[in-house]
Amino acid sequence: MMDAGRHPRIELLAYSEVENVTGYIGNFSVTVRKKARYIDENECTACGDCVEVCPVIVPDENQMGFSSRRAVYIQLPQAVPSAYLINMDECLGNNPIACGKCKEKCDKECIDYDMKDEILNVEVGTIVVATGMDVYDPTALDDYGYTRFPNVITSMEFERLICAGGPTEGHFVRPSDETTPKKIAFIQCVGSRTLNPERGNPYCSNICCMNTIKDGLLLKDHYPEVDVEVFYIDIRAFGKGFEDLFYKSKEQGIKYIRGLPGEIQEDPQTKNLILTVENTTTGELETHQADLVVLSVGVQPKRDAEIIKQLLTLSSTQDGFFLESHPKLKPVDAPTRGVFFAGCAEYPKDIKDSVTQASASAARANNILSSDKIKIEAITSVVDSDLCTGCGACVGVCPYNAIIQEKKKDVPFIIEAACAGCGTCGAACRFGAIEMRHFTDAQIEAQIDSILEENPQEKTVVFACNWCSYAGGDFAGLSRLQYPTNQRLIRTMCSGRVDEKFVIRAFEKGAPIVLVSGCHFADCHYIDANRQTVRRVERLWDKLERLGIRPERLQLEWISAAEGQKFALVMNEIEKLRQQVTKEEIEHTVKVLKEEREKKKAREKKRAQKQDEAQAAAAG
Ligand code: FES
Repeated sequence: MMDAGRHPRIELLAYSEVENVTGYIGNFSVTVRKKARYIDENECTACGDCVEVCPVIVPDENQMGFSSRRAVYIQLPQAVPSAYLINMDECLGNNPIACGKCKEKCDKECIDYDMKDEILNVEVGTIVVATGMDVYDPTALDDYGYTRFPNVITSMEFERLICAGGPTEGHFVRPSDETTPKKIAFIQCVGSRTLNPERGNPYCSNICCMNTIKDGLLLKDHYPEVDVEVFYIDIRAFGKGFEDLFYKSKEQGIKYIRGLPGEIQEDPQTKNLILTVENTTTGELETHQADLVVLSVGVQPKRDAEIIKQLLTLSSTQDGFFLESHPKLKPVDAPTRGVFFAGCAEYPKDIKDSVTQASASAARANNILSSDKIKIEAITSVVDSDLCTGCGACVGVCPYNAIIQEKKKDVPFIIEAACAGCGTCGAACRFGAIEMRHFTDAQIEAQIDSILEENPQEKTVVFACNWCSYAGGDFAGLSRLQYPTNQRLIRTMCSGRVDEKFVIRAFEKGAPIVLVSGCHFADCHYIDANRQTVRRVERLWDKLERLGIRPERLQLEWISAAEGQKFALVMNEIEKLRQQVTKEEIEHTVKVLKEEREKKKAREKKRAQKQDEAQAAAAG
């Protein structure tokens, strides 16, 4: 951090928040609120004179509440810049009767109670999201007594207590009586790997097993006589040298008991803790005694990650961590071009993995910054200004905010550098005013027509997105899985490209069944474009029902690239549905849709006539 602070080409905006981001790869404009510190950070030498006279005492968050700080403070000793700030919610203020002591004491006159937040606009070419993570709060797990027993602490609190810069200067003591505990129990997976949402998150937090092993070794190093027991589901030590460290901890006498305690009780006299646990290795119910219990808490997405997600049009997994553009091919890229991830913003990871990913992100960002030109997608959308009515429907559905409409009724324009080519805008445009290069309406309609040219009643039209469903079909083929041969796939980049009119055209040409398939939610390669697919298909189901056509004849399925088996299964099910569609049903559908089309044509003709008449009246 010090190096970053000193680097001539790095500008650190500490104590600041991003408020808005506009633009696209190579041309981002970021609005930053630099919060008022009430102390001039360029003048403050961190002498600490102000702290000595501040009468306000509050718990120190950095020391997990084990010690206190003043209203004027430095967040942590290694903070960059090394300057104090005043928490105005705690400060007694500038009123000399109330206080004002710090201002009086500061020789350098750095303190300004009237300092205001500054709004800065920063122009950047790329953005790296390294927003970190939060730690699971075990307050809800009352069977472990975290809120009731002082000697039940979290792994974060343990860190502060054993740290040389912590409140006890590294002398490890238990909170109830400040004596060094003789027997310490660690409980793993607190808030992780549970399917009960009231007890935490379903994923493995990745770092807790090794953190406990490291903590155990640290204890053994400082206090060789201390007994350490670890209660676990299974120990995950899969990094380089991690298994060795696990065995080393065993050699040092750390005991591992497979099974998580059901509850913890406290001896009110001694404040010692009694743990009841089913040892799943022996099948016995055991009780263990400990002077101190450490809950090895998991990690979870940053509380305000949602704001960054909105600002940068990012996508997240069900767990709430940011979703990368592609897990294998673009593991550090965000779906929005020019944005990269580093650290736990993407998923829980240890220091080594965070540094590796940060280096990769920096290199990826540098690739862009060091080029004069960047390659854009060949598959982008184009607006036909003659057909566009300026309704703005395309603007609202673009997952990348790549369509700009200066004001209502204006013809929007597409920022090609930001357009990723999902085609959702084309499908949303009711006037056919947006075309997608290489996946034009005419090209897709020609495929529909040719599929259904002969014996349409025997075919199923399948719209498959390039990244998941189509690849799932490939995988089914490679795996030699059997599925009917009368299904005809039309590839689109995303299921969001499937226009209502393509589905209607297929039915009008005699298709018994139409299947729209795409990636699972959160897997869509165009952020959340497949949510538009759902809306569109739901609208189509309503429309089909209204016209007396069975909505089940239009199917929607999510199939990933790895789900070859599911692809084959779905195709077999679809074939069964196709066989249930009668000749009469198809004929009825063709007739009804033809009539609908005629009516629509007549309506449009009438509207055009009216417009001409109105124009003529205005002219004459
Ligand atoms: Fe597959 Fe969007 S890319 S549904």
